[in-house]
Amino acid sequence: MSKCECDTKKDIYMPQLATVNKVRMMNNTEVYLHILPDGCRFECQPGQFVEVSVAGVGEAPVTITSSPTLKDGFEIVVRRIGNVTAAIHHLKPGDKIGIRGPFGRGYPVDQMKGKDLVFICGGIGLAPQRSFIKYVLDNRSDYGKMEVLLGTKCYAQRLFQSEIGEWLRRPDIRFLETIDEADDCWLGDVGVVTTLIPKVKSDLTKAQVFICGPPVMYKFVLLALAEAGVPKENIYLNLERKMKCGVGKCGHCQINDHYVCMEGPVFRYSDLAATPEAI
Ligand SMILES: Cc1cc2nc3c(=O)[nH]c(=O)nc-3n(C[C@H](O)[C@H](O)[C@H](O)COP(=O)(O)OP(=O)(O)OC[C@H]3O[C@@H](n4cnc5c(N)ncnc54)[C@H](O)[C@@H]3O)c2cc1C
Ligand code: FES
Repeated sequence: MSKCECDTKKDIYMPQLATVNKVRMMNNTEVYLHILPDGCRFECQPGQFVEVSVAGVGEAPVTITSSPTLKDGFEIVVRRIGNVTAAIHHLKPGDKIGIRGPFGRGYPVDQMKGKDLVFICGGIGLAPQRSFIKYVLDNRSDYGKMEVLLGTKCYAQRLFQSEIGEWLRRPDIRFLETIDEADDCWLGDVGVVTTLIPKVKSDLTKAQVFICGPPVMYKFVLLALAEAGVPKENIYLNLERKMKCGVGKCGHCQINDHYVCMEGPVFRYSDLAATPEAI
């Protein structure tokens, strides 16, 4: 994926103007936005993030949830946490925001060609993984089997429900879902996302596994994958750390020698062997 020719002229600290094109509440805490950068073409890799700024409020790193195969602009999903994310929740179509990026190292999409892929997502962790899942669906013959495991706290928090409905109808993606707490609306599996791992059909000793979710999930998923015989070299995880510059200058995201904004947010598990505190 080549970079936009404007990139060479960009000041990495200077936000580029962009227009909010579509806004949709996904549940009571997460909003979906489709953003159209003003002026120049926007190109990204699955798993990369942008710094989104709202005038007079501040800036926050947000992962791109759309695939690079989306022709116009990009999509994000934002959970309301504090000031900046609350301001993003107040945006309407036509509003202007600032964006810097895309930044960081995303998924190794080319190295994964021909391999079986298993995505393990917890809650909003589906949003970053969706960029690679959709990329695979748009380049389906380049990849092996694809299985997606999703765990969500409760029925009302589920993201991308209509899109998941489409995935369930496709023969070239196997989608398994569970929720932590059952209610009357839910007839599917109940329990945490690790309960889905024994149902994976791919050979887990050979498949490439991608994990993204809340920090507490990683420990249990990694234990379950070790028991299933998945080599550390075949596991990739998204790490989230507080960030400021996004470009390896300020040190806010640093874990020992690792700069999450530059070397991540997607890391190969075996590369973190000397930094267990990162997970
Ligand atoms: C690479 C990267 C990608 C991200 N992608 C997404 C995304 O796709 N969607 C999304 O909703 N959020 C994402 N986040 C998290 C998002 O950046 C934060 O929620 C946001 O910066 C909070 O800003 P705020 O001003 O709203 O809240 P603040 O007032 O800054 O913070 C509110 C509370 O959240 C805590 N907090 C803030 N940022 C983080 C963080 N990064 N990790 C842990 N705790 C934090 C603070 O300590 C505080 O307790 C991502 C973060 C990173 C580093
Ligand atoms: S966010 Fe500044 S060095 Fe990573």
